[in-house]
Amino acid sequence: MIDPNDVMEVRVARRTEEAEGIVSFELAHACGADLPPFQPGAHIDVHIPGGYVRQYSLCNPANETRRYVIAVLRDAQSRGGSAALHDCVVEGDALRISVPRNHFRLHPGANHSLLFAGGIGVTPMLCMAEQLHREGRPFTLHYCARSWGRMAFHDAISGSDWAGHVQLHFDDGAPGQKLDLQLALDTACADTHLYVCGPRGYMDTVLGQARAGGWSADRLHYEYFKAEPVHKESDGAFEVEIASTGTVVMVPADKSIAMVLNEHGFNVSMSCEQGVCGTCVTRVLSGLPDHRDAFLTTEEREANDQMTPCCSRSKSPRLVVDL
Ligand code: FES
Repeated sequence: MIDPNDVMEVRVARRTEEAEGIVSFELAHACGADLPPFQPGAHIDVHIPGGYVRQYSLCNPANETRRYVIAVLRDAQSRGGSAALHDCVVEGDALRISVPRNHFRLHPGANHSLLFAGGIGVTPMLCMAEQLHREGRPFTLHYCARSWGRMAFHDAISGSDWAGHVQLHFDDGAPGQKLDLQLALDTACADTHLYVCGPRGYMDTVLGQARAGGWSADRLHYEYFKAEPVHKESDGAFEVEIASTGTVVMVPADKSIAMVLNEHGFNVSMSCEQGVCGTCVTRVLSGLPDHRDAFLTTEEREANDQMTPCCSRSKSPRLVVDL
């Protein structure tokens, strides 16, 4: 369920082809007013023609108040969202968006930041790099793309004041310019914080190698675009008890917990509905969740005291949730 208080109307002030398959949209308040403030790493929900709602990171500097900039990759596996934005949305159109939310913040105490961007995963990193530079905090941005033609924002980056902190890597380029991940991780100082965003395989490689190298979880920050596909054939029914009222509801195999709770009048706020944004995170008081999200950290999953009811299920016959 989307909270209607979170939604506002904006106008597409500019649409730019940034790279092969990538379009950016500059959004301004429909009434010409200032937009709600945001911090680097924030995203907005965009309500797309056709009834889709998708999340996009804000990539413009966080001290700007008159616009939000998002960039959209046309996803070959698109369920409709990115294709509709590419095909149907032009300058002057009105769009409905949410206020910014942020689950991917810069750590305030990091002395050095190592940013890894894979493809369209550069969007939150642009805002982060800008902010780190403005605050005089050291950082390195490694930006990996399949080719020059598929690298969005390369002109903006090379023309920025912080271009000297960026290393560009191309899959189709010479061996010498490719990302040496091990070297980047090994040469980072002990209090460096790592941020990664991009395709799942890219993120898993960066995070896996960092973990294997002994990086602690509190220094690793990431945001997935999509949860891992899950096989639902063996899904069964289970019960969910609402702690505040003692009400017990049955969750059948073909419905999510959040769906059933909302049907019974228990409001669970949702946004992505696929386990990536964290909007629906709910405390679990007893029972064993079957975590299927890409939002909670490994430690948070293992604690089993919170879950994402939009997609996760239960391994125990009953879950008691703190609603
Ligand atoms: S609604 Fe996004 S994680 Fe559940």
